[in-house]
Amino acid sequence: MSKTSELSVGAALVGRRESGRWPARMDFLQSASGLFLALFLWVHLFAEASILLGKDAMYRVTIFFEGYYFFGEKYPIIITLFSAFILAFVLVHAVLAVRKIPVSYRQYRVLRDHMKVMRHEDTTLWWVQVYTGFALFFLVSVHIYTMLSQPANIGPYASSDRVVGEWMWPLYVLLLITAVVHAAVGSYRVGVKWGWLPARDAALGRKRLKWLMRGFMIFFILLGLASLTTYVWIGLEDREPGERYVPTWERTTTEPGARLEVMP
Ligand code: HEM
Repeated sequence: MSKTSELSVGAALVGRRESGRWPARMDFLQSASGLFLALFLWVHLFAEASILLGKDAMYRVTIFFEGYYFFGEKYPIIITLFSAFILAFVLVHAVLAVRKIPVSYRQYRVLRDHMKVMRHEDTTLWWVQVYTGFALFFLVSVHIYTMLSQPANIGPYASSDRVVGEWMWPLYVLLLITAVVHAAVGSYRVGVKWGWLPARDAALGRKRLKWLMRGFMIFFILLGLASLTTYVWIGLEDREPGERYVPTWERTTTEPGARLEVMP
């Protein structure tokens, strides 16, 4: 397909109201905000996976994000503020992305014809981004709102109770798969667009980047499922409703399985 016809496809999809340097700026912002969110997700999934190392490990990670190791006190408001910050990023990223999605049947036809001619896997990946992005908008909103409104309800027991008792696990399974796929495909596309290829030869670079993308997907989906299974396991333990986890170093009795009412 010639450069001119590619441009006309783009023009039909984006609409002609954008002019000057703004389309390029918005494109850059969309890619940069997406990369930031992908990095956040990977770090987040590692932090969540601390539960695989034990309840104490997850407890330490939780109080770290609540500022305990900086201020000597736990401030769940930090979680609320950080959640609001991430939500703002998600919104900016989504608004910038939505302008590229075909909104009328005419635009959809242009894109479909373009795909038929191109028969390129990367165009199919673009559709993967549209579908997963659409689903994420709902899934992420529910999750971030929960974190924003209940920042003190995070921990080995509180999180597990939410996953099992509040039936969040089906949402988390969907969120995990869609978010990991969206982040990996998005990072691959940004890598190709910005020329971050792991080889001098462009075709080989794309091929390697695609393998990296698949590797990230498999790794983070498996890691997330392992963490989620552990939360479910802990959520199924026989405990008092609403009981909070007391780390081993703060227990005042050595009696195995002792339950304390006092919050650390
Ligand atoms: C700053 C905002 C966020 C906070 C504070 C946060 C915190 C948490 C916490 C504490 C859990 C454990 C379960 C629970 O307590 O309910 C969790 C689970 C999860 N979160 Fe987030 N999250 C945030 C944003 C996001 C975003 C933006 C995504 C996706 C794009 C995401 C994806 C997930 C997934 C997939 C799980 C399931 C756990 C797993 O499979 O390992 N989170 N999150």
